[in-house]
Amino acid sequence: MTKGIIVSGGWGTRLRPLTCTIPKSLIPVVNKPVIERQILLLKTVGIDEIILAVSVMSDVLKNYFKNGERLGVNIKYTDEKNPLGTAGAIKLAEDYLKDENFFMLNGDIILNFDLKEMIKAHEKHKGVGLIGSRVVPDPSRYGVLIVEEDTNKILQFLEKNEYNPTDGKCIPMHINAGIYLLEPEVFQYIEPQKKVSIERNVFPNLARENKLHYYSISGVWRDIGKPEELLEGNIQLMNELLKNQQSKNENLIGKNLDVEGKVLIKPPVAIGENVVIRKNCQIGPNTIIGNNVYIGANTEIKDTLIYNGTYISENVKCEKAIIADNCLLHDDVQIVGNNENLVILSSFVEVLDNVRLIAPSESSLSVCHHDVVRLDVE
Ligand code: GDD
Ligand code: MG
Repeated sequence: MTKGIIVSGGWGTRLRPLTCTIPKSLIPVVNKPVIERQILLLKTVGIDEIILAVSVMSDVLKNYFKNGERLGVNIKYTDEKNPLGTAGAIKLAEDYLKDENFFMLNGDIILNFDLKEMIKAHEKHKGVGLIGSRVVPDPSRYGVLIVEEDTNKILQFLEKNEYNPTDGKCIPMHINAGIYLLEPEVFQYIEPQKKVSIERNVFPNLARENKLHYYSISGVWRDIGKPEELLEGNIQLMNELLKNQQSKNENLIGKNLDVEGKVLIKPPVAIGENVVIRKNCQIGPNTIIGNNVYIGANTEIKDTLIYNGTYISENVKCEKAIIADNCLLHDDVQIVGNNENLVILSSFVEVLDNVRLIAPSESSLSVCHHDVVRLDVE
């Protein structure tokens, strides 16, 4: 197997305002776009022909990856003028994928497991499709699999909102984790030039014909659909990468870190390249800082993601927050979320001196890109 297709043309509505300026699949996960991590994972099993099925903000994705040379893979693009759905999107790549089986991934999931084992399972089951699956306590946000555990067969595939337990109780179920191994035969189930969803229109038919199996994936798995999941997924992956840092050869503290005097770093923390941290700062735990970030003296940052190019002045506090690229936080600013809800600053937001942005208990607090925040929100 040499090919993989990643569908990354959705709107990313639930991650707004972060996805107002970049497509969801370019959102950083431990300082690399989520989709870049997927490509690197596919590479570990020799997959070096990648198709990105793009639509919304396709130019941004194409500009970032180009032909894939930087990552040592060959990237091609299928571009939909209007999103064609997850199956309509891969149908456009049929000519390219028609000769052998291939991986298909949703471009918004954090994954870290051994793909070799999934390939072995597919060879054993010999179906048309193998779906990576997890058992989750609340399956309501996912495609649900009704399975036969002895044979790993999927008896029924029910996409979000199609699974309605009779007593209304939420119980742990196998869900669709958004990673599949497919045979080219799948294309016979997709009408060309139409909007078709693989979850609603293709998998239910394959299940009916006993051609669909599931594979229980291990390791880190997370859909980054919502900001809270994005923060948690980053932290889970950071912990996993820190455990395997030497074997994976990925250094979580980047080049040219400039730390002034006494700074307290509480792990787990990941820091990108060219970062400056001034004296008496406290960084971590559960903090990821991107490239070219400046953090002024006496600043405290925990449970927070900071993207590239952000400048934080002195005596700032950030907790339970996501701060996108190129933001500017002036002196004595406080950005504080809570266990349920985060404070989210989109790209190029400026927060003026002494402003306090505190997330309410019932919802996250989001600031739109390029906004200048002058007043407290509590
Ligand atoms: N090219 C293209 N065109 N891509 C699309 C389109 C489209 O029309 N629609 C969605 N996508 C991409 C999205 O960009 C995303 O990467 C992926 O398909 C899944 O879409 P989401 O909108 O994120 O779906 P979801 O998270 O609600 O549900 C999906 O993922 C769950 C697992 O995370 C489904 O596959 C569920 O069954 C699954 O449980
Ligand atoms: Mg999703």
